[in-house]
Amino acid sequence: MAVLVTGGAGFIGSHTAVELINSGKEIIIVDNLCNSNIQSVENIKKITNINNIPFFEYDCCCKKKLTEIFQKNHIESVIHFAGLKAVGESVEQPLKYYSNNLKSTLTLCEVMNKFNCNKLVFSSSATVYGSPETVPIKETFPTSTTNPYGTTKLMIENILKDICIANPNFSVACLRYFNPIGAHQSGLLGEVPNGIPNNLMPYITQVAVGKLKILSVFGNDYPTHDGTGVRDYIHVVDLAKGHLNALTYIENHCGFETFNLGTGVGYSVLDIIKTFEEINNITIPYKITERRPGDVAVCYADPTKSKDLLNWQANLSLKDMCRDSWNFTKSTFK
Ligand code: NAD
Ligand code: UD1
Repeated sequence: MAVLVTGGAGFIGSHTAVELINSGKEIIIVDNLCNSNIQSVENIKKITNINNIPFFEYDCCCKKKLTEIFQKNHIESVIHFAGLKAVGESVEQPLKYYSNNLKSTLTLCEVMNKFNCNKLVFSSSATVYGSPETVPIKETFPTSTTNPYGTTKLMIENILKDICIANPNFSVACLRYFNPIGAHQSGLLGEVPNGIPNNLMPYITQVAVGKLKILSVFGNDYPTHDGTGVRDYIHVVDLAKGHLNALTYIENHCGFETFNLGTGVGYSVLDIIKTFEEINNITIPYKITERRPGDVAVCYADPTKSKDLLNWQANLSLKDMCRDSWNFTKSTFK
C-alpha cells in the first residue's frame, strides 16, 4: 500500500516525501521534472537512507502512464503537488496553466476513480482568498482570484468538491498553503528558483549569494507596523508534516475539507530582511520601490481548524526559516 506523490521532486513535494518515508510510509514519486531536477530524488534517498524509492518521470496529464503506475502498484492515497505555480507567467501564458494544472488533476482523478483509490490531499494556496477584507483568514472566508494561476487552484477545489458530492466514499483534504520558505536542515533540499525570483525569500538568498545586486522592497506605505507588506511565512518542513496529518484525517473522514496551513503570525518584509541578516550575519542591500500591483497589505492565516481537526501546528521559527533557506542556497549555488 503506497502513497503516490505527484510533483514529488519539487520544493514542497520533496520535503513531504522525506517526512512520509521517515514516518514509515511507502511512497511512489511521479514528476515530469518540468520545474525540478532528478537530483532532488537522489537527495531524498540520501536523507532517508532508502535506496529504492520508485520514481516515474511521467507527465500527470498522460492517462496511459498514470494508469500504468496504478496497475503495477497498490496505491492507497495520493498527494497531488504537481502543477505550475508562477503567478506572472500564468498571466502571460494562461493556457499553459489551465492546461497543465487542470488536465493533470482531471486525469489523476479519472485514474483514481478507475482503480477505486479515493483519498486525495491537494496543494491549494492562500491565493484563493483574493484580497481578504480582514485577517486572520479563516477557511470560511469568501474566495476569489486575481490571476490564472489562482483561478486554476480555485477551479480544482470546486472540481474536487463535486467529485466528493458524487462519490460519498471520496475524501479530499485541500490544503491552502500560506508562504512556504526555508529548506531541509541537511542543506540537500530546498527551493531552486527558475530565472529571476518573484518571491521574497528566493530573491533575498540570490542577493545574499551575489547573483542579484539589490532587493527591491515593494512599498513602505502599507498600514502595517513598519509600512511594508505582512505575510504568514511557514517553514517547508512544518508544511510537509501537515500532509501526514492530512493523510490521517482523510483515512477517517469522507468528503471535501479545506485547511489553512500557516503559522497564524505575520511578518513584514523588513522583519524578514532583519532576521535573515542577524541569523546569517550577512547584509542584504535593499531599496524601497513602488508597491507591486495586486499585492495586499496583510495576509495571515487563522490555523485553528488545522490545529483542531488535523492536530497539526507549525513549530519552526522565522530564524529557522532564514537560517535553513540560506544554508541550502549557499551549499547549492556558492
Ligand atoms: P515546484 O514547482 O517546486 O513543484 C511542483 C512539481 O510538479 C515540480 O517538480 C514539477 O516538475 C512538477 N510538475 C508540474 N506539472 C507536472 C505534470 N503535469 N506532471 C508531472 N509533474 C509535474 O512547486 P512547489 O513550491 O513544490 O509547489 C507544489 C504545489 O504547491 C504546487 O501545486 C503549487 O501550486 C502549490 N503551492 C505552492 C506554493 C509555494 O509558495 N511554493 C504556495 C501555495 C501552493
Ligand atoms: C506569492 C504569490 C501568491 C502565492 C503566495 C504563496 C505572487 C505575485 N503571488 O504571494 O500567489 O499564493 O506567494 O506562495 O507571486 N516582496 C518584496 N520584494 C520582492 C518580492 C516580494 O518586497 O522582490 C514583498 C511582497 O510585496 C510581499 C512579500 O514580499 O509583501 C511576500 O511576497 P511573495 O514572496 O511574492 O509572496 P506573496 O506576495 O504573498
